[in-house]
Amino acid sequence: MYIGLLHLHSTLRYVVVILLIAVIIKAFLGWSGNKTFTETDRKLGLFTMISVHLQLVIGLILYFISPVVQSALADMGAAMKNTELRFWAVEHIATNIIGIILITIGYSTAKRAATDKAKFMRTALFYLIGFVLIMSAIPWPWSRVARGWF
Ligand code: HEM
Repeated sequence: MYIGLLHLHSTLRYVVVILLIAVIIKAFLGWSGNKTFTETDRKLGLFTMISVHLQLVIGLILYFISPVVQSALADMGAAMKNTELRFWAVEHIATNIIGIILITIGYSTAKRAATDKAKFMRTALFYLIGFVLIMSAIPWPWSRVARGWF
């Protein structure tokens, strides 16, 4: 189950990244072009939020079964001094959860905004900050905690 979930979580990152890029570009274009915030815009934001929530659920399960995290949690003092263990025990989960919270706030605050311009603006800004945080917490092959592409 661990390996299967790890692959699912790893592959889903691309769905998250593509959806986030699409929402952010559409929101900035809508904001600057004074466009109408349509049902498609709302749904795109919703599906993107669902995709990051799905990552959160899979990530939480992984957190409790991952041998890497378990070995870090067994001795947090030592783990904090080790780049890789600190990343998996603290940085990956904390940064992603903050990003996911911002995206969730972005969706709900955009829904309640009075004008279409405000809806696009809130979506653009909250999703963009969430995107930057999530991108920074992915163990890309070139990062200090490099993992594979899938
Ligand atoms: C949108 C948010 C997230 C993205 C894009 C993401 C992405 C990734 C990626 C690419 C990996 C590496 C998979 C591999 O080695 O094949 C990974 C591993 C992992 N993630 Fe996430 N993640 C996210 C959120 C979370 C959250 C919120 C948690 C915890 C609650 C979490 C916990 C973990 C754990 C425990 C591992 C596996 C460590 C291991 O055993 O090697 N992730 N994640």
